[in-house]
Amino acid sequence: MGQALDLAKRGVGLTSPNPPVGALIVSQEGAVIGSGFHRKAGMPHAEIVAIDEALEMNPRALPGSTLYVTLEPCSTQGRTPPCTQTIKDVGIRRVVFGAADPNPKHTNRSYAILGASGVQVTGGVLEDECLDMIRPFSKWVMTGLPWVIVKVGQSLDGRITRPPGEPVWITSDSARSHARRLRLRADAILIGAETLRKDNPRLTLRDADVGTGKEQPWRVVLTRSGRLPVDAHLFTDAFKDRTVILQNLSFTEALRELGRRGVCTVLVEGGGIVIGQAFQSQEVDEVHWYIAPRICGSGRPSFAGLPLPFSIPLDHAKVLPIADNVCISGFPVWPDVPLENEAAAPLSTPAPTGTPDAGPSPASPFTAVTPAVFQSPPAISTP
Ligand SMILES: NC(=O)c1ccc[n+]([C@@H]2O[C@H](COP(=O)([O-])OP(=O)(O)OC[C@H]3O[C@@H](n4cnc5c(N)ncnc54)[C@H](OP(=O)(O)O)[C@@H]3O)[C@@H](O)[C@H]2O)c1
Repeated sequence: MGQALDLAKRGVGLTSPNPPVGALIVSQEGAVIGSGFHRKAGMPHAEIVAIDEALEMNPRALPGSTLYVTLEPCSTQGRTPPCTQTIKDVGIRRVVFGAADPNPKHTNRSYAILGASGVQVTGGVLEDECLDMIRPFSKWVMTGLPWVIVKVGQSLDGRITRPPGEPVWITSDSARSHARRLRLRADAILIGAETLRKDNPRLTLRDADVGTGKEQPWRVVLTRSGRLPVDAHLFTDAFKDRTVILQNLSFTEALRELGRRGVCTVLVEGGGIVIGQAFQSQEVDEVHWYIAPRICGSGRPSFAGLPLPFSIPLDHAKVLPIADNVCISGFPVWPDVPLENEAAAPLSTPAPTGTPDAGPSPASPFTAVTPAVFQSPPAISTP
């Protein structure tokens, strides 16, 4: 199962709205006769990739063999036929899976379906590791909302911007490059309009991550005003058709809209107002907080808007030094009590004079975006 997990990891970030899954087939003699992972929604599931390899390389060894797969084999017709049927057809005698299907309608169905044909089924092997692998998918299946990763780069005094006239970056090159790798796991990267106006970011995959087979994640901008610079990279570069504007939605509504379109993992890259809203919504599942040895003394806070009435500990917290920067990551542990009204959260702390929040001047580079152009996001492939 460890080897099947390693295979599954190769599909992380590529398969939405399906989960990453790995599979291995072992003959009665103990030889690996097929292996594979799920590469993309609509393409064969991991079990089928492994079975196809075995059929091509060693078909005689398939009857009586054992299939190890990180997720319970599917038992329903989706974009592809049910894997349970193919498993029976090729004569696999034993199936060992890690995580049960998170969809309550399908959980543990494979026991009865495969068992009826004499296939032995064992579930729950390396279960925690296999469940970790599909956490975003599980959340999406159960709630319709994507898994939310928040990434912040801040100074020691909690600022995400430096004083005017200084370079914009807070964290080091190596810390930022480390942070960009989070994009490999994301189906969408979400920012607030002020970050677009101030930073003109590209939000693209970089360096070695280009060419991994990963599609450019959706680039999602939240705005109420619709005042967006039409010449921004997000609207003019080679990936402009991967940019989506969501207007007049609460943070949770924005997540629901993305989930409806098959986004299982969203990476929130700021700024502070959007990050504050993400926490107000209590929908943050994972954080990566990069901290630089710098004190800004002023500037935008990493967490703006309404204060939270409680603190949030991180589960499985990790502290990773990156030269003289540090990344603290983990999984927020949310209290059971929901906050009162996310929609009531103010969108902004007072805007510094001279920013676009003060209203576009005649010489402003910011042009109001016609809602008709952007309000309906382009179609994202659905499950
Ligand atoms: N160090 C870092 O890691 C980092 C990362 C990102 C950004 N930054 C910096 O942070 C600064 C911007 O941060 P910020 O806190 O001022 O602003 P922000 O969070 O980037 O953007 C706030 C704006 O987003 C829109 N918005 C937010 N929530 C919305 C919702 N639910 N629905 C619709 N629109 C929504 C509104 O845009 P409208 O005004 O258009 O209505 C709001 O004014 C920039 O200077 C940037 O350089 C730093």
